[in-house]
Amino acid sequence: YAPYYRQVPFDYPDRTWPTKVLTRAPRWCSVDLRDGNQALVNPMDSERKLRLWNLLISMGFKEIEVGFPSASETDYDFIRMLIERELIPDDVTIAVLTQAREHLIRKTYECLKGARRAIVHFYNSVSILQREVVFRKDREQIKTLATDAATLCKELEGEAKGIDLYYEYSPESFSGAEPEYSLEVCEAVIDVIKPTHDHQMIINLPNTVEMTTPNVFADEVEYISSNLRDRDSIVLSIHPHNDEGMAVAATELSMLAGVDRVEGCLLGNGERTGNVDLVTLGLNMLTQGIDPQIDYSNIPEMRKTVEYCNQLAISERHPYAGNLVFTAFSGSHQDAIKKGLEARQDAAMRAETSLENFLWLVPYLPIDPKDIGRTYEAIIRVNSQSGKGGMAYLLKANHNFDLPKRLQVEFDKIVQSYADRTKKEVKDEDIWRLFKDEYLPV
Ligand code: KIV
Ligand code: ZN
Repeated sequence: YAPYYRQVPFDYPDRTWPTKVLTRAPRWCSVDLRDGNQALVNPMDSERKLRLWNLLISMGFKEIEVGFPSASETDYDFIRMLIERELIPDDVTIAVLTQAREHLIRKTYECLKGARRAIVHFYNSVSILQREVVFRKDREQIKTLATDAATLCKELEGEAKGIDLYYEYSPESFSGAEPEYSLEVCEAVIDVIKPTHDHQMIINLPNTVEMTTPNVFADEVEYISSNLRDRDSIVLSIHPHNDEGMAVAATELSMLAGVDRVEGCLLGNGERTGNVDLVTLGLNMLTQGIDPQIDYSNIPEMRKTVEYCNQLAISERHPYAGNLVFTAFSGSHQDAIKKGLEARQDAAMRAETSLENFLWLVPYLPIDPKDIGRTYEAIIRVNSQSGKGGMAYLLKANHNFDLPKRLQVEFDKIVQSYADRTKKEVKDEDIWRLFKDEYLPV
C-alpha cells in the first residue's frame, strides 16, 4: 500500500491541531475463532474453523486466539489438530483463553502440549457489578483469583517445556471497574509473572460492555498506560465491544492514548453487537496513509468466507465491505466522482506514469475500491434520484459510447421518466435498451 491516501491535510504550518494523529498500525490479534465463534447461532465446526483460520493466515494475522479449549471440546480438538498437523506457520502465535480457575487452567496447558509458541490468556471479571452480584467477593478476594491463576500458570510452565510461552491477563469488564483498582490487580499479576523487556506479557483491557463515550474508555486506557510500573515489559492491549456502536472510535482513541495491540474480529463479529471490526479499523488506517500491515486487497473474497464461516450476512452499508458502500445514486455525487476519476486519468497520462503515484483525490470515495478488490461498475447506479452524469458514465464505461452533452440532457429525460414509471433502479441493460430504442432503431 502506498501512502497515497492522505486526503486530509494535517500539515498546515500555522495550525496547532489536530494535536495527535495515528502514525502506525498496532499489533493485531484476531479473536474470530474464539469471541466471534462463541457468539454464533451455530458455532463453527472444524471445517468452518479451518477455513477461517486459513483466511486469517492468508491476510497476514500473526496473533490468533484460536479458542477456549477448557470450555469447548470442539475448540480443544481444533487446537490439537493445528498443533499435531503442524498447521501453524512459524511466524504465527496462537492464543488460548481460560478463566482464572484451576481446573480450566490445567486443561488449557494439556491442550497446548507440543505447541511451538503460545499465549495463555487468563481472565477474571473485576467490575463493581460482577464483584457484588455474580461473585460476591470483595476487592482483595477478586485480586487473589487473578494472582492465584498467575501462580498456577508459573507452576505449570514445567509441564509446558519446549513451548515458547507468553501470558496475557484480562481484567474482564475493565470499563465497569475503578481504573485504580484494575491497575492494582494488573500489577499484582505482573508481580507474579515477572515479564521482562525481552519477554513481555500482554495486559489486555476489555471494554466487555461498551457503556461510555469512547473518550472515557480511552482516558481509562491512558491512565493504565501511563501508570503501569515497568511499562517496557508490557504489551498494552485492548478488546473493545460495540454495544453502543462506537468500538472503532474507542479503539482509534485508545491507539492515540498509547495502546500497542488491538483484539477484534473481521467485519465486527463477536458477542452481542460484536467485537471491534478489524476490517474497518485497518482500512481507516489506510485512508490516512498508514500501512495496516494486513492484506485487505480482496474484500469480496474475505467477506464471502466470513459470511460462510459465521453464517451471518453482512449489511449492505457495512463500511468498506457492504454492497452499497461504493455506490452513488445521487446525480451530483455521480458527477463529482466521474470528474475525480477522469482528472486522475488525465494527470497520469500527462505525466506518463502509473495512477498509483497520484494521491487518491476522488470526491465521495474515501478509498479506491480497486485497492480492496472491488470494481468500479458498482459505483454509479441510476434511479429516480440520478442525473445525466450517471447514465453517461455507464454508457461510456460499459459500452464505450461517448454520449454528446446535447444528447445527455435529452436522453436523461427518457431515463428519468422510465425510472419514475417503474419505481425501480435503472440497470445498465435498461439504459442500453432505452438508448438503442431511441437512437439506434433497427
Ligand atoms: O469481552 C471480554 O471481556 C472478553 C474477555 C474474555 C477478554 O472476551
Ligand atoms: Zn469479548
